[in-house]
Amino acid sequence: MSTIYDNEFMQGFMRMADDGFQQGWHERNGGNLSYRMKPEEAEAVKSYFTPKEWQPIGTSVPKLAGEFFLVTGSGKYFRNVMIKPEDSICIIEIDDRGENYRIMWGLVNGGRPTSELPSHLMNHEVKKVRTNGKYRVIYHGHPANLIALTFVLPLEDKVFTRELWEMATECPVVFPDGLGVVPWMVPGGRDIAVATSKLMEKYDAAVWAHHGLFAAGEDFDLTFGLFHTIEKSAEILVKVMSMGGVKRQTITPDDFRNLAKDFHVTLPEEFLYEK
Ligand code: 13P
Ligand code: ZN
Repeated sequence: MSTIYDNEFMQGFMRMADDGFQQGWHERNGGNLSYRMKPEEAEAVKSYFTPKEWQPIGTSVPKLAGEFFLVTGSGKYFRNVMIKPEDSICIIEIDDRGENYRIMWGLVNGGRPTSELPSHLMNHEVKKVRTNGKYRVIYHGHPANLIALTFVLPLEDKVFTRELWEMATECPVVFPDGLGVVPWMVPGGRDIAVATSKLMEKYDAAVWAHHGLFAAGEDFDLTFGLFHTIEKSAEILVKVMSMGGVKRQTITPDDFRNLAKDFHVTLPEEFLYEK
């Protein structure tokens, strides 16, 4: 007998949550994940739906009207997603105005979608428009090295981008647009969602100072890979800084320009400043 979990998007979502936990990015209930389902995916699982009451999203996402999302639950642990998904995650539907959501499946023991739902949905809205519907995944976690850097680096996009690019040759190829930085803000509300989604107009990832990282992408592999690459690079920078912080040699602005040519990426000059 087939189950809702036989669907590929369900498998991909659960595997990503588990991979993130194994990486150490999801202590306790830290982090949240959302996936904008394709119409045929919603159709394929609709026999499992039992709609609950409409609830306010806390912000407005009119361009997501009528969409279905698979989302982690608030207060739920990523380490449990694989073993008890029906308790940890849910499918929600957005109403025709983009103001309310209702749970259609999951969270069988009660609860609600992640407290960061406003940030997830506002990021989805920006990315859906900007990528012509290609981007479907928004991912938030608490990676220790990147968070550590938010205590010692200036909280500026251009500094985080350049310093992380310098730590691993693949970085400018993986996130050529750079990385945004949100100063410390109260999580879970509309204000931080507005600030983050503004950065998502320009970047695929945004750091939340002293908190974590938001990443956006086309599918689970690309979004997880982006998050992983950024945190790996942050780990190298933390090591370099811990070794005294003096670089005997590094990747220079001209090296980046040459890399851009060969790898057919455009690297904005604003990140290739002289230091
Ligand atoms: P939730 O458990 O509500 O998803 O919150 C976790 C988190 O990381 C908040 O930023
Ligand atoms: Zn968080």
